[in-house]
Amino acid sequence: MKKKKKKILHLPVLLKESIKYLNIKKNGIYLDATFGSGGHSRKILQKLGKLGKLYAMDRDPESIKIAKKIKDKRFKIIYDKFSNIKKYLKKYQLKNNINGILIDLGISNLQLKNKNRGFSYQKNGFLDMRMDTTKGISAAKWIKKSNIKTISKILKKYGEEKFSYKIALNIHRYKKKKDILTTKKLYSIIKKSVPSQKKNPARRSFQAIRICINNEIKELKKFLIFSKNLLSKNSRLLTISFHSLEDRIIKNFIFKNSKKNINIPNKLPLTAKQILKTQSLKNFKFYKKKFPSSDEITKNRQSRSAILRVSKFLKK
Ligand SMILES: C[S@@+](CC[C@H](N)C(=O)[O-])C[C@H]1O[C@@H](n2cnc3c(N)ncnc32)[C@H](O)[C@@H]1O
Repeated sequence: MKKKKKKILHLPVLLKESIKYLNIKKNGIYLDATFGSGGHSRKILQKLGKLGKLYAMDRDPESIKIAKKIKDKRFKIIYDKFSNIKKYLKKYQLKNNINGILIDLGISNLQLKNKNRGFSYQKNGFLDMRMDTTKGISAAKWIKKSNIKTISKILKKYGEEKFSYKIALNIHRYKKKKDILTTKKLYSIIKKSVPSQKKNPARRSFQAIRICINNEIKELKKFLIFSKNLLSKNSRLLTISFHSLEDRIIKNFIFKNSKKNINIPNKLPLTAKQILKTQSLKNFKFYKKKFPSSDEITKNRQSRSAILRVSKFLKK
């Protein structure tokens, strides 16, 4: 009898590298802030001992359904945005108690491949783009209520789109006749607004609208700042990002937090307490930066733009 092929939901990106640099302690506590289909989470669980613990989060109800199938006492799934982690600090005793955090940004294959989620310009479906389909407004609604200036600004800011104004203008012209409700419609408007290029022009605009709909930049910034309340001494923060905008935010955050405070008071000499204070801002230390191998890119094209940054958390 032929073996039934298992459906792959999402190929975890930089999996081997993430697990290596999380430096998993058998009885440690870990947080996978972006569960997705659980590729990274499952591997972390394999490495954990009996007393280890893994908390995972996702804002997508589809991911939560998958996570709930994991029957393991060491695993706890939280259905929420990662920027809300503060809410769970007391309940799960997370305050400066976590040995490693992984945050794998962007969208999962589960989201991309489902045409009804509206993330892909290669499939026709309703223009939704919400990671959490139970909250907020769809991309179709956002386009309907936004003016040329707003749309153009978002395409430029989050998609680095040179033809942002032209696209926004053509969206506006079309909207006067009919609502833009499908990915196919939006795609055709973008295509007509931009001179033909090597890379698909819709990629930038779809990314920009998705970032806006899900408030992705604020989410990331808020989480990074709060991570200092989660991580324990000598723990690790791992981030996987897929575009320069996110990577810049991560890089700047780590850079800013890995410098000593150089605001030395005017009056010298310094007291011991003041000396300690001058050093108290040094939270993180950059450790590694990794890219997918050519082998991984061949197997999983979606990994091609991924950057894994590993930082060590020194102290609060
Ligand atoms: C690239 S996928 C993660 C894939 C996962 N590492 C795996 O191996 O299956 C990103 C996931 O993060 C979730 N996500 C993105 N932003 C989020 C946020 N602010 N809060 C919670 N989950 C978020 C998305 O819903 C998506 O499921």
